[in-house]
Amino acid sequence: MGEATTDTSARSHPGKIEQTAESRAEELRAELRRHEYLYYVLDAPVISDAEYDALMNELKRIEAEHPELLTADSPTQRVGGKPAEGFRKVRHSRSMLSLDNAYSADELRDWDRRVRELAGRLPVEYTAELKLDGLSVALHYEAAENGGARLAAGITRGDGQIGEDVTSNIRTIRSVPLSISADRLKKAGVPQAFEVRGEVVMPAAAFLRLNEEREKQGLTLAVNPRNAAAGTLRTLEPSIVAQRRLDVYGYFLLIEGEYLAAGQGATLDALTALGFRVNPHRERVHSVEEMLKFIDAAEGKRATLGYEIDGVVLKVDSQATQQRLGYTGRAPRWAIAYKFTAKQAITQLRDILISVGRSGKLTPTAELTPVFVGGVTVSRATLHNADFIERMGLLIGDWVKVERGGDVIPKVAEIVEDAEHPRGTVHFTYPSSCPECGNKVVRVEGEADYRCVNADCPALLRETLLHFGHREVMNIEGLGEAVVGQLLENGLVHHVADLYSLTEEQLVGLERFAEKSARALLGEIERSKKAGLARVLMGLGIRFVGERTAQLLAEEFGTIDALMAASAEELERVEEVGPRISTAILEFFARPANRTLVQSLKDAGVDMTAEKKQRSTQLAGLTFVLTGTLPTLTRDEAKEKIEAAGGKTAGSVSKKTSYVVAGEEAGSKLDKARELKVPVIDEAGLLALLKGASS
Ligand code: IVH
Repeated sequence: MGEATTDTSARSHPGKIEQTAESRAEELRAELRRHEYLYYVLDAPVISDAEYDALMNELKRIEAEHPELLTADSPTQRVGGKPAEGFRKVRHSRSMLSLDNAYSADELRDWDRRVRELAGRLPVEYTAELKLDGLSVALHYEAAENGGARLAAGITRGDGQIGEDVTSNIRTIRSVPLSISADRLKKAGVPQAFEVRGEVVMPAAAFLRLNEEREKQGLTLAVNPRNAAAGTLRTLEPSIVAQRRLDVYGYFLLIEGEYLAAGQGATLDALTALGFRVNPHRERVHSVEEMLKFIDAAEGKRATLGYEIDGVVLKVDSQATQQRLGYTGRAPRWAIAYKFTAKQAITQLRDILISVGRSGKLTPTAELTPVFVGGVTVSRATLHNADFIERMGLLIGDWVKVERGGDVIPKVAEIVEDAEHPRGTVHFTYPSSCPECGNKVVRVEGEADYRCVNADCPALLRETLLHFGHREVMNIEGLGEAVVGQLLENGLVHHVADLYSLTEEQLVGLERFAEKSARALLGEIERSKKAGLARVLMGLGIRFVGERTAQLLAEEFGTIDALMAASAEELERVEEVGPRISTAILEFFARPANRTLVQSLKDAGVDMTAEKKQRSTQLAGLTFVLTGTLPTLTRDEAKEKIEAAGGKTAGSVSKKTSYVVAGEEAGSKLDKARELKVPVIDEAGLLALLKGASS
């Protein structure tokens, strides 16, 4: 090391103290960052823990003696944050979507086929990655004075649109760089401000240690590493988070809210160059056969990775192709999660419990002797409906095979019968009356379920309230089972709209409600008024109207009044709405009680409007005929684009045809166009017309 850089020499030259302490601090920081990177990102330390601690202690001492030298991104500051009061909600730069799932080679083949169809002539190659079983986060970096970047915020996925600012907890995770040098940015070709998205996981060793600790303290054990990681990230005390040893693996890089143009493989390389931990098990694959090979290899490694994975993620590599494929409501069409097949275990059926859902549906649940399946302890499993129990011939006391598949909810797959596992003996009789209100239950001809049809059944209101407050619906945090139970028991709520007239005095009167929590709940309820028409529609609980349909209806009609006034025909003009859904909507709004509910929500100030999607009409009145193979668009895509802009397409050329769009190997239609003097354009010409149409 060069001249006068240690504390001792600094002390012997009093005139130089500030200067030397500053440069030594800088040097120590750089050194510590390098060792953090080697240790936590590359798993390849070059110094011992004791040596690392010595460097850290030296830096801490200098910073204590010269507080003015302390910087927020100093390695000593990972646990600098004070315990948080709660987490600020933050809107994501672009939605954090989820992934569609595939469970078999056939489903992968279907997906691959669809991708290739939609991609037209754009390149189709895939990047295969492990599907880490944790939770996703967005890490925001901003420009630092030294030309580098510094961590500005870490945000959980939340509902995909709005997450929670857990920055002080994220800072404690050693594989997340607090700062990135100008040099690294340059090497990676990344500007000073960017966003990394990735998965937070709790490594297996940390999970085991956590549960050992909890067991010693007589606390309930965490069920799996994912839950433990999620709970940890929402802990209000950063020093606890620091002890839990979470890890973050990056998989997306966004610059100004856009994915990297160079594609997914290049994204992972750029993240690596920036110093993020990127999962080393990744590969470029070109076919379903290669995907399956990667999946097989991943399953083989699964037990020895040291962290949980629940499948493999396949992403179309090219960003141009990704853009072409686009998104469905909640997931990109250009990626899919292949989930490992269900894990099974054998256990005994102790009893069958019946619960009543929002629509009055009776659902049977198996009560099981607790058993460990696929990483969690299972003591309940769904039995779907009465039909399922009858068909299976299930008896209480039976030994059953329990499966955890792609869903979190375990299933009873089959009855096991052998010398060790004799059949049960007790027949289960399905209740003829509702377990909640005692009214007679009915089974509609041809339906698998029994229903309680008592409109005043307390279970219906309870489930409706829970649904209304759900994160994906009106997103009222704090409106969980316990609170809803209390509201009902105390007669404070008789229908959903009553939520909006609750007062602080009413809540504070309830058990477990302090002034602060009462105010928080009322704040959440107030905030939900702005959730918008789509969420309100979901919240009303109209049969078959889920997230996507609600969204499309909201965009089409813009207000609840317009929707309520719509005819079946008008409703069915909405994409994905057929007679089944339109009937359900009409029936719902035909009921006076439901109309009253809508009115009360309106009176309470709940926003029931949405931005109407502007239909383009620029190509209105024009008819196009497509012929031959276009260079990038498939026939269906071209058709879709024309129709979206208000134009029509036809199969044959006539005098009424406005344009013929001709590609390679165009045949007789082209001749006909020339004969009738119909203008002929190519794909570029069509795209230019469309561009004009959308601007
Ligand atoms: S890509 C479009 N890549 O899986 C957003 N996700 O089931 C998809 N996950 O929410 C994210 N490993 O939390 C991606 N290599 C990986 C992943 C991964 C785990 C999680 C992620 C996502 C969930 C979707």
